[in-house]
Amino acid sequence: MPPSSLTSLANETTVPTSFIRDEEERSKVAYNNFSDDIPVISLKDIDEIGTRGEICEKIVKACEDWGIFQVVDHGVDPQLISQMTKFAKEFFALPSEEKLRFDMSGGKKGGFIVSSHLQGEVVQDWREIVTYFSYPIRARDYSRWPDKPHGWIAVTEKYSEKLMELACKLLEVLSEAMGLEKEALTKACVDMDQKVVVNFYPKCPQPDLTLGLKRHTDPGTITLLLQDQVGGLQATKDNGKTWITVKPIEGAFVVNLGDHGHYLSNGRFKNADHQAVVNSNSSRLSIATFQNPAPEAIVYPLKIREGEKAVMDEPITFAAMYRRKMSKDLEAARFKKLAK
Ligand code: SIN
Ligand code: FE2
Repeated sequence: MPPSSLTSLANETTVPTSFIRDEEERSKVAYNNFSDDIPVISLKDIDEIGTRGEICEKIVKACEDWGIFQVVDHGVDPQLISQMTKFAKEFFALPSEEKLRFDMSGGKKGGFIVSSHLQGEVVQDWREIVTYFSYPIRARDYSRWPDKPHGWIAVTEKYSEKLMELACKLLEVLSEAMGLEKEALTKACVDMDQKVVVNFYPKCPQPDLTLGLKRHTDPGTITLLLQDQVGGLQATKDNGKTWITVKPIEGAFVVNLGDHGHYLSNGRFKNADHQAVVNSNSSRLSIATFQNPAPEAIVYPLKIREGEKAVMDEPITFAAMYRRKMSKDLEAARFKKLAK
């Protein structure tokens, strides 16, 4: 069982064994050894005929090469971004009992938890999270959205709306690049879900032994991640051989293609492998906005180009794809533990 709050461990000099990862899972690259490799793309004038083509080309190439890139000049109000960040930081600074009013460890949908909301993780992640289900609007359960700090709910609503717009704009570019109508990817999501996960990674006494968030690909269509200036997000290049630390850029969003986006493009767009590392100097905050298909949406390539084979054997629902992914991951982790 993870502790009910990581702040309760603030004065420890070692991490509890439940957070210690196997040697090969630990990070080989420092949290602040920043790389410029990941493309940074300005979306300024993306809607202008004269400039759209060039910007779209950069986005498509970044998805083909990396599956991860950063966007600047994206049109989301910097003031909204700083309000969202400020409220999120204030939430994690609340006393544990306040955060635990939203405890989701009993299986509740949305709220606060240490480490992970996924059941049965074998090794714990060094993070606290608070998560909201924000789309479809009818699925919002405001009783699970923290009411402290006062005013955060209204800011989250606005933030969710703006990020939904930005995600749809990026999906239009990718749909067109596949030779499809621009709504093709959003339509394939049926009624697009959005989930916001706010990650707080406290300072860690032994950061080299653990991870803030273990290596993974995101299951959904596309993810927009806002991170502070500390650094800790790492991605792979050379098909998983080399890790790099993504350089934080004030006000930028890191865009990740997920498994759904990867499958729908028949593997043309990469699903970026990534993880988050922690450090002993400062805490870190990131806000991930996941754009996912509805559970009943069908996962299968939207277009298979001549001479290509489908990357999937058969169409399945997103719910089934997700269950399969999670049980495979858990099985692998449990097998590793047993084999020790
Ligand atoms: C995530 O992958 O959801 C978060 C990564 C990060 O905090 O940098
Ligand atoms: Fe992720």
